[in-house]
Amino acid sequence: MPTPHSRFFMTQQQTWSQRFESALHPAIARFNASISFDIELIEYDLTGSQAHAKMLAHTGIISQEEGEQLVTGLEQIRQEYRQRQFQPGIDAEDVHFAVERRLTEIVGDVGKKLHTARSRNDQVGTDTRLYLRDQIYQIRRQLREFQLVLLDIAEQNIETLIPGYTHLQRAQPLSLAHHLLAYFEMAQRDWERLADVYRRVNISPLGCGALAGTTFPIDRHYTAQLLEFDSVYANSLDGVSDRDFAIEFLSAASLIMVHLSRLSEEIILWASEEFRFITLKDSCATGSSIMPQKKNPDVPELVRGKTGRVFGHLQAMLVMMKGLPLAYNKDLQEDKEGLFDGVNTVKACLEAMTILLREGLEFRSQRLNEAVAEDFSNATDVADYLAARGVPFREAYNLVGKVVKTSIAAGKLLKDLTLDEWQQIHPAFAADIYEAISPRTVVSARNSYGGTGFAQVNKAILAARAQIKDEVS
Ligand code: ARG
Repeated sequence: MPTPHSRFFMTQQQTWSQRFESALHPAIARFNASISFDIELIEYDLTGSQAHAKMLAHTGIISQEEGEQLVTGLEQIRQEYRQRQFQPGIDAEDVHFAVERRLTEIVGDVGKKLHTARSRNDQVGTDTRLYLRDQIYQIRRQLREFQLVLLDIAEQNIETLIPGYTHLQRAQPLSLAHHLLAYFEMAQRDWERLADVYRRVNISPLGCGALAGTTFPIDRHYTAQLLEFDSVYANSLDGVSDRDFAIEFLSAASLIMVHLSRLSEEIILWASEEFRFITLKDSCATGSSIMPQKKNPDVPELVRGKTGRVFGHLQAMLVMMKGLPLAYNKDLQEDKEGLFDGVNTVKACLEAMTILLREGLEFRSQRLNEAVAEDFSNATDVADYLAARGVPFREAYNLVGKVVKTSIAAGKLLKDLTLDEWQQIHPAFAADIYEAISPRTVVSARNSYGGTGFAQVNKAILAARAQIKDEVS
């Protein structure tokens, strides 16, 4: 008697073995299916399957002609997919079944040979690694773009000064270039970290089979070579159940987001009326629906906001893995949505931040140069001045603390003290104290390696340029 699920019954009889007598409940079929999101892997699935088919022919497991038919049929599916003619639905369960079924429609019964000596377990592992490899390549290129725009702005602002903070309290003035180069360095580590992750993504699990390998005389190194993997998993159980590579990626992605989010937070502060260090341009800011005076820093706010979801995907993947017995478990199907979203989020944020920096904001250099002259951020330099003239630093520090206190009470800045007043504080002060504590001198003098002194910053820019020129990809 026909059941309400007979449509599913029919399709699933094609994919699963004959041991199943009744159809999946439609809601369970939907629950089980991953096609709605793993369709993202289709091009990698096709490429992986083509390599597998070539290997089957190469080793004589199938004939050369059969191998060619499979490869051509798979290529046709690629074209159909690109032209939106191939849009498998939920009844296909996942992208692997969808492709295999369509292949059999195209090439006939030989299509049923494709899955010889393979399992969806090593197949999905292969697809995910091929996907991630591509994405890492793209993200690293985006990081380079981001670094380049930071360098360009830095180069134009070596002598623009900006207050430097610790505890969000004015600390010591900085070269704006130095501040921006800090983000360049973070991005450089992100770029290197991804190269390292890539090394462990680029290992082939294809041929691990369901979990134990296969009885067929396959050649795993042959498929690995065709797919440009660096090596193959040495243990079949590990190969089908490892998701370390995805966790490592999400961890590296989380750090990229941390860095973008910190920069975002600074941009949001700088754009506020309280700081007024930058102006947001209309192309990258929005207005309020009710308060006509407002211009909102939506881009950095969204980047800061999206950071949490990438951390969430990392956490979800770690928790998903921690209790899994070897080898494959269906839990592993849950690795995809978070990974895809992590990839898409990082890419979108890097793109938006690069545009924002390149054309969406302007540093108000006059205001910045004035800002550093309005505070006590040269107090360390007064202490250093005395220390350089033989006063023990701690003693000098205490002395300057008192000067700051009395100056604040008198409504004065350090530059407003008369030479007489300086010399009453300590006889070592001379007329050159004014020059010594001017913001420009203060910045320029921090010439220790990696410091904000202009000479150091110049060197850092040259080194950065040389570095990214040598290491393009
Ligand atoms: N859709 C599955 C996944 O993403 C493919 C692997 C299925 N393997 C299995 N033994 N059920 O993980």
